[in-house]
Amino acid sequence: MEKLGVSITGSGSAVPETSLDNHALTALVETSDEWITTRTGIRQRRISLPSDSVSSLAAAASRQAIASAGIQATDLDLILLATSTPDDLFGSACQVQAELGANKAVAFDLTAACSGFVFGLVTAAQYIRTGVYKNVLLIGADILSRWVDWQDRKTCVLFGDGAGAVVLQANESDRLLGFALKSDGTQNHHLNLGYAVSSQELLPGINVSQGTYQPITMNGKEVYRFAVQKVPEIIDKALFAANLTVEQIDWLLLHQANQRILDAVAERLNIPEHKVISNLANYGNTSAASIPLALDEAVRQGKIKPNDIIAASGFGAGLTWGAAIFQWGK
Ligand code: UT7
Repeated sequence: MEKLGVSITGSGSAVPETSLDNHALTALVETSDEWITTRTGIRQRRISLPSDSVSSLAAAASRQAIASAGIQATDLDLILLATSTPDDLFGSACQVQAELGANKAVAFDLTAACSGFVFGLVTAAQYIRTGVYKNVLLIGADILSRWVDWQDRKTCVLFGDGAGAVVLQANESDRLLGFALKSDGTQNHHLNLGYAVSSQELLPGINVSQGTYQPITMNGKEVYRFAVQKVPEIIDKALFAANLTVEQIDWLLLHQANQRILDAVAERLNIPEHKVISNLANYGNTSAASIPLALDEAVRQGKIKPNDIIAASGFGAGLTWGAAIFQWGK
């Protein structure tokens, strides 16, 4: 039988060493451990040093994922790096490819903010299902601490840095059971890391823009409302595509933005608390890294077991949101 199904056979993760707890942030902005904990569930986050990079975090997570899948870097056909904070705007996936010595793999970045991992999972699956590639490495990695305004208490308490990775392989049975993806650019202004243009006259009558990216701005209330409404809807859609009911889900694995969002989505879907994977207390919102980081931890803790059914959902800037229902392991 031809192997045109997809299985997720390995995971890995990496975070910077430096940890910043809520108390430390009170020295920067007017906030409190009590406010951050009750409004978000976050207690600490990891912060990159200037010597850290997205590509080195991504490579560290990838090495673990490749080892746990039982393959070699040279077996990889494709490397997808979901990130919004590349070390180089031309992309960081090729740097990861070089660090891993994955000399056969084609590598490129994919940008879909906090939905990047779910969008990447579906993208990777298409290459496998069409028979083009057999071994794909998908990484979610972000260093949002580079782009946070450390004077803005509405955002600086939320984010952290990290990377997570999975290996997807061609398989006889298809373990990506269903998915649904959405975008709504009309709501783009609610969450941005925008480029600020400043016009310079290059030659008489010819202007160029030479600006820089500006720190993250977010309308938290709107994004919260969006997430709590749209995430249950998209999970329902993906479940419908998978021909599964919500009771058949073993784990709800959401983008780790806010514990209140995790709780509200679980409640709307009628999923009991013990099926909800949460590690944001330790890492904050790590954007594209949050789902694979939480996935890898749960696998290593022995919570997620082979054949468990996972409903994963990412949501964020774009605005973008998506869900993927998959069964863990070969
Ligand atoms: O990864 C992309 C997806 N992102 C998200 O999903 C984020 C979604 N949004 C959220 O998680 C929440 O909206 C936040 C955690 C960002 C904010 O929580 P909130 O309950 O919506 O608070 P709020 O923005 O309504 O602010 C309530 C109050 C305000 O004071 P006033 O105007 O009521 O006097 C804020 O100024 O809390 C104040 N506040 C803070 N106080 C202490 C805002 N940030 C802080 C802070 N410390 N860090």
